[in-house]
Amino acid sequence: MEWGMQNRLARIIRPETGHSLMLAVDHGYFLGPTSGLEIPAETIRPLAPYADALMLTRGILRTSVTGTTSTPIVLRVSGGTSILRDLDNEGITTTIREAIRLNAAAVALSIFVGAEHEKETLLGLSNLINEAEEYGIPTLAVTAVGKDMARDARYLGLASRIAAELGARMVKTYYCDDFEKVVAGCPVPIVIAGGKKLPEREALEMAHRAISEGAVGVDMGRNIFQSENPVAMIQAVRALLHENATVDEAFEIFNEKKRSSGKEEKAHGKKAVVIGKDQTDPRPKEIKVAQGYYETSKHHEKRRGKEKHDRKKR
Ligand code: R5P
Repeated sequence: MEWGMQNRLARIIRPETGHSLMLAVDHGYFLGPTSGLEIPAETIRPLAPYADALMLTRGILRTSVTGTTSTPIVLRVSGGTSILRDLDNEGITTTIREAIRLNAAAVALSIFVGAEHEKETLLGLSNLINEAEEYGIPTLAVTAVGKDMARDARYLGLASRIAAELGARMVKTYYCDDFEKVVAGCPVPIVIAGGKKLPEREALEMAHRAISEGAVGVDMGRNIFQSENPVAMIQAVRALLHENATVDEAFEIFNEKKRSSGKEEKAHGKKAVVIGKDQTDPRPKEIKVAQGYYETSKHHEKRRGKEKHDRKKR
């Protein structure tokens, strides 16, 4: 493998553990302001230091993530559809030059195997890979699953294998029964999506089963940012992936972090992490320095200022 490709993959999949905790915050590209991600900067800022990579679009990267971050970026480069129409009719939205300009560690797009536009999305994947490989950039293929498709090992194995055959360097798919079969049939690393929000312990169990059965990690969104305590949840998932924690231990970490963040909120008389002038941030200094921190966009600062002003007037 060429040095650039190897190095980019090693930035995403940590060589010390062979695992990866990707935080997916790209949902808005077809869902709009998803619950928990209404103001992306606020969601991303406290979570990014615990993530091995952030998966997102260029719009959210530019507006909601500081350029001084060292967290690698997996850039979502497909889209062009919304939940109001056919989701499987995606195209490439972002050029490879833009991905390079944004210093992406990888590019990502969805394929829709078995859907009406299967062929277009598979050829889209192939074209993206042809371009990205020229520059040593890995492509992550996301196996999107239509409402009519079964999320079983047969379907997910088919879609994952096709993605790998076309040259994807990583595949993101869903966890399912007989997941080992999906892994066995796919010669490149697999990460699982979290899917819809589950109770925290169940989400940890799913992630644990996935890595025990061969996934290199997770590319998890809603089960982290829609958690009752996202920062506690991402640390629990991290313990599973990088500290070999059991589900019980990871769940205890979740509860413990949740309790301590509650105490901190009480002590400060406000939320532990807020954005604005009176910002407090409980993360250790070295994490802030190493990872940078996440700013709100000017638009949100302005809006928050106006809301304050309107409240005072009332
Ligand atoms: C969907 O295509 C997007 O890539 C999401 O980022 C993905 O589904 C992962 O998020 P979640 O864990 O919320 O399923």
